[in-house]
Amino acid sequence: MIEFSDVSKIYDNDIVLKDISFTINKGDLAFVTGPSGVGKTTLLKLIYAGAIPDEGNITVAGWEIRKLQQRTIPYLRRHVGVVFQDFRLLNNKNVFDNVALALRIHNMHPKEIRDDVNAVLKDVKLQHKSHSFPDHLSGGEQQRVVIARAMVSKPTVLLADEPTGNLDSANSKIIMDLFKEINARGTTVLIATHNESLFQQSGRRVIYLKDSSIEMEISK
Ligand SMILES: Nc1ncnc2c1ncn2[C@@H]1O[C@H](COP(=O)(O)OP(=O)(O)O)[C@@H](O)[C@H]1O
Ligand SMILES: [Mg+2]
Repeated sequence: MIEFSDVSKIYDNDIVLKDISFTINKGDLAFVTGPSGVGKTTLLKLIYAGAIPDEGNITVAGWEIRKLQQRTIPYLRRHVGVVFQDFRLLNNKNVFDNVALALRIHNMHPKEIRDDVNAVLKDVKLQHKSHSFPDHLSGGEQQRVVIARAMVSKPTVLLADEPTGNLDSANSKIIMDLFKEINARGTTVLIATHNESLFQQSGRRVIYLKDSSIEMEISK
């Protein structure tokens, strides 16, 4: 589903990622970890074509990232949902509209949009907050809106960048349980986190980044 083959990324003459190779299979729930600044966010950006590799090849859901043109990137993005670290919710739009926005740009019928948005808000247990504005929600609720927005277009791959970064342990567990459920329904999930407790004893695959490279990759 996601394949990196000798991928390198350079920013301002600094090698951030060097010769990175790994495969995430369809249906996996995997983690990428390592200290702050090691390149976790950059690795996710490469997957959704938010950054382009300087070397190597990346394939995502059958798309070869190197061959994408600016106008074909939106097609890739329909298959790749992203839970951004900084949420990027629109504070002047309510929860429903924040989630619906991703579908409105696809020209869907209003009833279909309403049904899909309500279904995904139910999945994240936020139906009752549909008319609330993001800045009136708790951090855990905001994170669930972001997940709903990423899932509403039914992506085959879901990427999440430090999804529990600002949450207490109870809310972190709710979010992790949600990712497990999304994964169990068939979406491939990749989570970038510096928080080892998220994957310890999870039995899931973990990619460790260190000094621009993959230090170890374990399949437990
Ligand atoms: N757009 C950018 N321009 C220049 N340098 C960047 C950019 N994005 C990230 N970097 C640098 O790349 C390195 C890895 O950053 P990042 O991927 O955000 O790491 P992590 O998510 O693991 O904390 C850092 O040194 C960071 O400063
Ligand atoms: Mg990061």
